[in-house]
Amino acid sequence: MRKPFIGGNWKMNTSRASGSDLARAVSDGVNSIRAAVDVAIFPPFPYLMTIRQILRERNSAVKLGAQDCYFEPDGAFTGEVSLAMLKDIGVDVVLAGHSERRHVLGESDELINKKVKATLEAGLECILCCGEKLEQRVSNLTDTVNERQIRAGLAGVPGEYLSRLTIAYEPVWAIGTGKVATPEDAQTAQQRIRAVLAQLYGQEAADRIRIQYGGSLKASNARDIFKQPDVDGGLIGGASLKSDEFVAICRAAAESVPA
Ligand code: PGA
Repeated sequence: MRKPFIGGNWKMNTSRASGSDLARAVSDGVNSIRAAVDVAIFPPFPYLMTIRQILRERNSAVKLGAQDCYFEPDGAFTGEVSLAMLKDIGVDVVLAGHSERRHVLGESDELINKKVKATLEAGLECILCCGEKLEQRVSNLTDTVNERQIRAGLAGVPGEYLSRLTIAYEPVWAIGTGKVATPEDAQTAQQRIRAVLAQLYGQEAADRIRIQYGGSLKASNARDIFKQPDVDGGLIGGASLKSDEFVAICRAAAESVPA
């Protein structure tokens, strides 16, 4: 039985004040369901320490996430943030391969793989994102793209690290567009992703890895998607900026687990 995992990716949004309010509201809102669902929030880098403090004061189970990292331990890499720095300030989990990093910032599978390996080697949790663009979907390339991104992203990652790995399937055409995958489409793609994980690490290991769905999830559409057997929660963008909406999505995930 996989415990659902919800991530709130704030992207380049919020201020120190509004992010602090959001962190407080999310932490308080999900406290009563902490046994049923894991929750992480991913504020912008400048607010991580402020929000670490807020979560600590509340003895919160909400994990602190970073939206990116650099794989080198230190040195002349202007503007980059190392995993040691993220660990130092109490970050728990790091995103890799988000579609905006791939398609807006131009990150390659090779760079993403280095970030995944460095994150897991540092002892942090990693969410590796994958997903096809619209033109790939209409050309029936969804599974091909996901398989390539998963195999490349996990190249050289030993099985002993898998307990700290989550996959997020995020069809690019569904991110920030209001177009959500149907529950069946999400299930089909995620079942295939799990099959790729099974080829890489064996079925038992693959069955333990959580796979989130991401792309225009809201409280109103989350429930049906979370019911799918290979969907273990979600990675939320826009709707993670509204505490009521985000908490409702976390509740839907908590309730998706049979009692
Ligand atoms: P969205 O973003 O929920 O705004 O579609 C999802 C994501 O990018 O993780």
